This record gives sequence, structure tokens and C-alpha cells, in this order.
Amino acid sequence: MPTIGETVSDLTLRFAAAGIDNPRLDARVLTAHVLDLPPEGLFSRAGDPFPTAQAAALDAVVARRLRREPVSRIRGFREFYGLDFQIGPATLDPRPDTETIVEAALRLRVPGKAAQILDLGTGSGCILLAILSAWPEARGVGIDLAADAVEVARGNANRLGLAQRATFVQGDWCEGLIGRFDVIVSNPPYIPDGDIPSLEPEVCDFEPPAALRGGKDGLDAYRALAPQFPARLEAGGTVLLEVGQGQAQDVAEILAAHELPHAAFYEDLGGVTRVVAASVRV
Ligand SMILES: C[S@@+](CC[C@H](N)C(=O)[O-])C[C@H]1O[C@@H](n2cnc3c(N)ncnc32)[C@H](O)[C@@H]1O
Repeated sequence: MPTIGETVSDLTLRFAAAGIDNPRLDARVLTAHVLDLPPEGLFSRAGDPFPTAQAAALDAVVARRLRREPVSRIRGFREFYGLDFQIGPATLDPRPDTETIVEAALRLRVPGKAAQILDLGTGSGCILLAILSAWPEARGVGIDLAADAVEVARGNANRLGLAQRATFVQGDWCEGLIGRFDVIVSNPPYIPDGDIPSLEPEVCDFEPPAALRGGKDGLDAYRALAPQFPARLEAGGTVLLEVGQGQAQDVAEILAAHELPHAAFYEDLGGVTRVVAASVRV
């Protein structure tokens, strides 16, 4: 019977041979997941025999990873903005770059002043819930076309203790929505359709297509959303949109054509312009 440490080493070699990035990290996280330990808990157990009762479970998760299913999907959870989010087949696996839009929204916070936030294409609810976790006076609505994503987002709100301030509904962007919001955030699908087959298998084989497909040039969702914003924004309100690499200027122009002049760009930690901010012309 191999030890836990030997099991991690063996998996590392198998993942590396399969061309998986970060093979040792994935081997550690998946071994810890099967043993129901935090990854750092493996060190003190490295010399213990790997329990026979867990061998089949480990084989199953290893087979999934070798088919390039992401570790976060195998575990069913992704950490985002320091919070744990459940994810599922209908939700995007949240990206660290998307924390940029959370940071941009939190810059708009006026302590003590109530605010209404709208998150369009909410997926797991990660953007809205991360904002609400750090903005106690805010309440928000998250909308997604995928009913299963809405269920996942509601579950995340409950687990994070934010359900009193977050409402999740199924819908097609702002269709049928009433009311106005101080901040509208969205990370819409923005990958040009033709680029999707060449993305890494973790993305093109496992992300829900509705979370990726941005049309021929990647900008379809921005064109659909922009005309809907003026009627949904409070006076002085702000729209914050995540964009793909190289899309910021085009998206700013789409917004400007619908009474929303560009106000600011925000970069992600990699220096890519990731968020376009705009406000209604007054
Ligand atoms: C790129 S994902 C973002 C998910 C989540 N906000 C995040 O950042 O991880 C885009 C989301 O938009 C949703 N979506 C696509 N078209 C939509 C539409 N017409 N109305 C509402 N949501 C839509 C997708 O289902 C998907 O959850």
C-alpha cells in the first residue's frame, strides 16, 4: 500500500505526463479532497498508508482530472474574493480576474448610505455576493438566463449568510425588470464564438456555452445590454462591465452610443484592462 506522500508523487507524474499545468498542486488538492483534509493537512500525514477504502474515490477523481475537468469542478467549489462558492454545470467557474469588478464596485461605496446593486449574468452569484459581503448597507438582485445557475447562486447566498440582502431571479438580462439601481455590474459572455474551440479543454469542454459565447466578435452581449441600462440606472449611478482582453475601447464606444459615456477603465492584476465603468449623461 503506497503512503499518502507516495500517492501524491505518483499522481504528480501522471498529471505532468498528461500535460496538466500545476500537476503537483492538483495532485495535492485532489488527494486532500478525497481524504476530506485541507491540502496543508497532507504534510503531517505523508507517511501514513493511503486508506484502501478511499482508493476507488481517488481513482474516480483522477480519471476526471485526466479528462481535463478542472479541479474546482471536481470539488464543486471555487474560492473567490476570499469566499467559498459552490459551482455547478450551469455556472461559470469564477476567475480571479473578475475580482477587479468587485474592487471597482466597492470604490463606489459611501459608508452608511444604502445602495441597490444589479448583477446581470450572475452565474454562481460570485460578483454580487462578494460585493454585498464587503458593503453592509447594500442589497442586490442577480439575474441569469440559466435557472440552474440561479439555484446555485441562491444556495451560495444562504451559505454565506447574505440571503437577506440578495435576490436571485431567472431572466433575460433586464427584460421584465422594474426599478433602478445605483450600481449595475456584469461579466457577460465575451469570447468570440470562433475562438472557443481553441481554448484549453478545461474551458471549452466544461464551461457552460452560454457563459462563453459572445457572438462573432465577442461583443453581442454588450450590444444587447447597453440600450437597457439607462432605464435601470439611478441618477448618478454607475455601470461596471468586465471585458475580454482588447475589448475595452469597443465596449466604451457601445456604451457611449447609449447615453453612457465612459468614465474609467480598471486593470486586473495582470495589467489587462478588465473593467469599463460608465455613467448616464446628465
Ligand atoms: C461569463 S458568465 C459570468 C458568471 C458570473 N457572473 C461570474 O463572473 O463568474 C456569463 C453569465 O451570463 C449568463 N447569461 C448569458 N446570456 C444571458 C442573458 N440573455 N440573460 C441573463 N443571463 C445571461 C450566463 O448564463 C452566464 O451565467
